[in-house]
Amino acid sequence: MLKKSLAIMMTVMLGLMMVGCGSSGKDGQAPESTVKEEIKENIVVGFSQLGAESDWRSAHTESMKATFTEENGYELIFEDGQQKQANQIMAIRTFIQQEVDYIVLAPVTETGWDTVLQEAKDAGIPVIIVDRMVDVSDESLFTCWVGADFELEGQKVTEWLNQYAIAINIAPEDIHIVNIQGTLGGSSQIGRTKGLRDAVETYGWDLLAEMPGDFTRTKGKEVMEDFLNLYDNINVVYCENDNEAYGAIEAIESAGKKVGLDIMNGEIMVVSFDGVKRDAMSYALKGKIACIAECNPLHGPRVQAIIESLEAGEQPEKFYFVDEEIFSANETVKTLNINGKDYQVVHLTQEIIEQRYQ
Ligand code: AHR
Repeated sequence: MLKKSLAIMMTVMLGLMMVGCGSSGKDGQAPESTVKEEIKENIVVGFSQLGAESDWRSAHTESMKATFTEENGYELIFEDGQQKQANQIMAIRTFIQQEVDYIVLAPVTETGWDTVLQEAKDAGIPVIIVDRMVDVSDESLFTCWVGADFELEGQKVTEWLNQYAIAINIAPEDIHIVNIQGTLGGSSQIGRTKGLRDAVETYGWDLLAEMPGDFTRTKGKEVMEDFLNLYDNINVVYCENDNEAYGAIEAIESAGKKVGLDIMNGEIMVVSFDGVKRDAMSYALKGKIACIAECNPLHGPRVQAIIESLEAGEQPEKFYFVDEEIFSANETVKTLNINGKDYQVVHLTQEIIEQRYQ
């Protein structure tokens, strides 16, 4: 590969220069072993990140950058797609021209990848999909995927809400929900929205409206302001990430309303996803966010493990789902049973927060 050969050439040249500088062995010849030891091939990884919209995304980028370092034997070419699929497609085409060893793609949306992934496949470059999924006609267009089960995350939050509503004795038709969705067409939006819609159908809650907040605080606030102008009976806000939740909370409080779990007495409950930053957990501790389904962004070492197994000639699992928790400071709901499996709710305390965010 171009990059690899450059690395080798430079190392060999370095070896030869060392010969010229007299740092060599007998008769001005570099000992063969010295030259061989110096030949180290960095694995070149082209990473197309979809953007920088949230705390989760920043932590994910950081995890990739901290993993794919020269010290670890990698050269990382990082491209920020700025929320545009066209930018990500361009980045992948550039990686192909650069003859990188691996392409890692965090796709903004699920569809529209067939052509460019076929180009990568034709060039013989393995593609690892991370975080959101791709929806392609032929799964051999990518080597494997690692990320979260977004629908399960949605099921955790809605099951928590269901049990909480039963415990406080509120009728299903009195649960009036608005949904601030993530970026439309991305797997995290699709899965979390599906989790909510299925629960609405099952339990008979009142879903007032859904609008995209693009996983950002600013848009989350704008959307919540619109919802508050349109509906005067909202008592649950389903935010598809924490940044949207911060924005929604700001909008609710600016409108003179109270955020909290006492929805029988006029408070508006906010539920959310991610739990990446201390801020989100502190909101949860105060009851400003009633529960948070974790979405784990630390995929760098997971992608590294996949690359290592491919380098060793092994075939990694096609789909690798990360285990995740659910958090609430409220102790009403202790365990969730989803599809026959139990999930313990982690009851947040200041001590737990300190342990997680040292
Ligand atoms: O795809 C993961 C989602 O993308 C995170 O939950 C959200 O914060 C991010 O922007």
